[in-house]
Amino acid sequence: MDNKVIKVAVCGACGKMGQEVCAAVENSADMVLAAKIDIASNGYKTIQDAKKECEFDVVVDFTQPDSIYKNALYCLENGIKIVIGTTGLKDEEITNLKKLSSEKNTGCLIAPNFSTGAVLMMMFAQTAAKYFDNAEIIELHHNQKKDAPSGTAIKTALMMSEAKKSFKKDNCPETETIQGSRGGTSYSDIQIHSVRMPGFMASQEVIFGSAGQTFKIRHDSTDRKCYMDGVLLAVRHVCSKNDFVYGLENLLGY
Ligand SMILES: NC(=O)c1ccc[n+]([C@@H]2O[C@H](COP(=O)([O-])OP(=O)(O)OC[C@H]3O[C@@H](n4cnc5c(N)ncnc54)[C@H](O)[C@@H]3O)[C@@H](O)[C@H]2O)c1
Repeated sequence: MDNKVIKVAVCGACGKMGQEVCAAVENSADMVLAAKIDIASNGYKTIQDAKKECEFDVVVDFTQPDSIYKNALYCLENGIKIVIGTTGLKDEEITNLKKLSSEKNTGCLIAPNFSTGAVLMMMFAQTAAKYFDNAEIIELHHNQKKDAPSGTAIKTALMMSEAKKSFKKDNCPETETIQGSRGGTSYSDIQIHSVRMPGFMASQEVIFGSAGQTFKIRHDSTDRKCYMDGVLLAVRHVCSKNDFVYGLENLLGY
């Protein structure tokens, strides 16, 4: 694949992320935009439609939680490499995609967050997790987001859980007088709280506490351009190596 122009199909091309990805691919010297796919477009509505008329090396998917598993299965079953930005995949679906990617020797990269700052936030949270027995996550997004909690919050909790089994040491006994007040319980008992309202794009705060101190790690995305370097890096990766990757931190080499 070296020195070859990469032909990229963008699925979800009319969406907020899809439009940015199309522009980033078009501005990239080593890639061409081979197909724009979107159910809401007048052109190709499915990857299958596009495949009949266009040649592409990789699909970049930024659609919606209800579609992504089906799209990913189609791609991998047909030997099409895929970069998945869409969030909402369940644990067992990720496991199945990993297996299929290996069986078909077809590259698949899933990243709940493609921005450098968010990846660093997750990595720093994993490091801090070793030193604190209590931690909770608050994620804040725009009100069109379809899944809760965010894929970034789930991946953060997963990475923190690799460092510690429980984050509720000596927590107070709880009675919820309003159901859901304490958020949802994720890996290693980490509570995740999801805020949805206009005014936010994508933010997350990981809060650690111990006697006499709190420690917060926060990331704010203010423009979708922050994801594009990561998306292009992922496209190059799946086109040069046919492996399965879950999380951009695996490519950044920090
Ligand atoms: N990984 C990351 O870094 C990152 C960053 C931001 C958003 N996201 C995720 O990306 C996804 C898209 O976000 P968005 O804000 O662009 O949403 P959006 O609603 O603006 O765009 C989604 C687009 O996908 C299209 N679509 C839906 N189902 C489809 C299907 N089956 N086939 C083809 N097209 C389909 C819709 O018509 C729409 O144009 C969400 O899951 C979001 O959480 C991930």
